[in-house]
Amino acid sequence: MPSRRDLLVGVSAFAVASAASSALAGGAKPPESKPAGDKPPESKPPAAGPFTLAPLPWGDADLAPVISQNTVSFHYGKHHQGYVNKLNELYVGNESLGSTPEAIATAAYGKADKAPLYNNAAQAWNHAFYWNSMKKNGGAVPTTGKLADAIKAGFGDAEGLKKAFKETALGQFGSGWAWLVNNGGKLSMVKTANADSPLWTGAGTPLLVIDVWEHAYYLDYQNKRSDYVAAWLDKLVNWDFAEKNFG
Ligand SMILES: [Fe+2]
Repeated sequence: MPSRRDLLVGVSAFAVASAASSALAGGAKPPESKPAGDKPPESKPPAAGPFTLAPLPWGDADLAPVISQNTVSFHYGKHHQGYVNKLNELYVGNESLGSTPEAIATAAYGKADKAPLYNNAAQAWNHAFYWNSMKKNGGAVPTTGKLADAIKAGFGDAEGLKKAFKETALGQFGSGWAWLVNNGGKLSMVKTANADSPLWTGAGTPLLVIDVWEHAYYLDYQNKRSDYVAAWLDKLVNWDFAEKNFG
């Protein structure tokens, strides 16, 4: 299993002022946080604070036609930026929880009085992981190597993995995420609601994620989440990122 540091090496789309991080809390806890809500894009300028949005790992038109430049522009420039802005606002007075979004989300997870901070820290981290889970001309599932062996053991073959990924992504009721995770070399699919991530719920080490909030696909696919997920799996998945996270 890769260390948390290894996992985060590939997350280049999110920069923070401090590289320090605190230890992950162990064990799964029941989610108690309130949904972040799919709010309209923020229009105000970025708030001053320690957390900033790093550039995307590819050009904003590179994922078209699977994900349009328009969707990327709103999703990254408005939604993701909005989470970072709010995180900076809410971080004031909560500095003791940690110095990175994942540390803050881990510390605030399950604490009702920290729900807004949790939601925004978690969404800041989740989106950085999502951007890195995609690349131009992606989608080719590994056929050799440790990850390929784990895929074969867990899902039979690439088609079996894609079928499980689709079922998980379509099975998430409402806003959330579908993750490919690793538990000691064993792969599985995990769905999470709203801002939750297996990284702090204890469900495994994330290797890949697809955002199934409507803001991720509605401009391009309207209500056809299944078409978005299928195209994402076939044409965008960054398996290099997954292999790096698998270790
Ligand atoms: Fe999103």
